[in-house]
Amino acid sequence: MRRQVGALSFVGSYPKNWPDLGMPEIAFAGRSNVGKSSALNTLLNSKKAARVSGTPGRTQSVNLFKVGSGCVFADLPGYGFAKVPAAVQDNWKAMIESYLSERDDLKLVVVLVDARRAPQEMDGMLLYALTESSIPSLVVATKVDKLKKQQRQKNLRAIAKEFALGPGQPVAFSSMSGVGRDQVWDHIEAACR
Ligand code: GTP
Ligand code: MG
Repeated sequence: MRRQVGALSFVGSYPKNWPDLGMPEIAFAGRSNVGKSSALNTLLNSKKAARVSGTPGRTQSVNLFKVGSGCVFADLPGYGFAKVPAAVQDNWKAMIESYLSERDDLKLVVVLVDARRAPQEMDGMLLYALTESSIPSLVVATKVDKLKKQQRQKNLRAIAKEFALGPGQPVAFSSMSGVGRDQVWDHIEAACR
């Protein structure tokens, strides 16, 4: 089933002073290059809503999108890319911390992890910070199209165990095939209500 997304509009790109839009907001977070912008485009049935790039660390501010009349999507800059200078990493951390503490309408943070990789410490730290701030999270394991079934199951189990996830998580997702799209939408719709 393809969801009717409705009118999509780009609100803007902000490193701070995020505008108050008065709508429930869903943020997309994860390591650089994990596929946040691609996942957003897949969910929105759009090839180019969010900028996808082969260069990790491309998204450096929070990009806000209005989805239909009821919901805002926030594409957050990725973390943990080794080649990014320490000063930029610190900057990222400060930005994300203030984003998470300032956004009153934030209903859900979709934390994307790479299904091919072992659970990452930075992802664990983000999930811990979200739990501490009572912000609901949804872990989505992306790029599952790159794994054979058995390896996929093994990796997803390792992620679920490491982060002590509830049932149904991580959601197996692929921006290439669209696998997991409806499941992620179910969570988004519930959070946007
Ligand atoms: P930053 O904004 O730099 O943090 O990256 P990002 O997390 O937004 O990643 P982006 O969506 O730009 O994707 C990074 C690369 O991964 C691109 O080359 C995408 O084409 C590729 N990619 C993203 N999702 C998938 C997926 O589900 N499957 C496969 N095979 N490739 C993907
Ligand atoms: Mg991006």
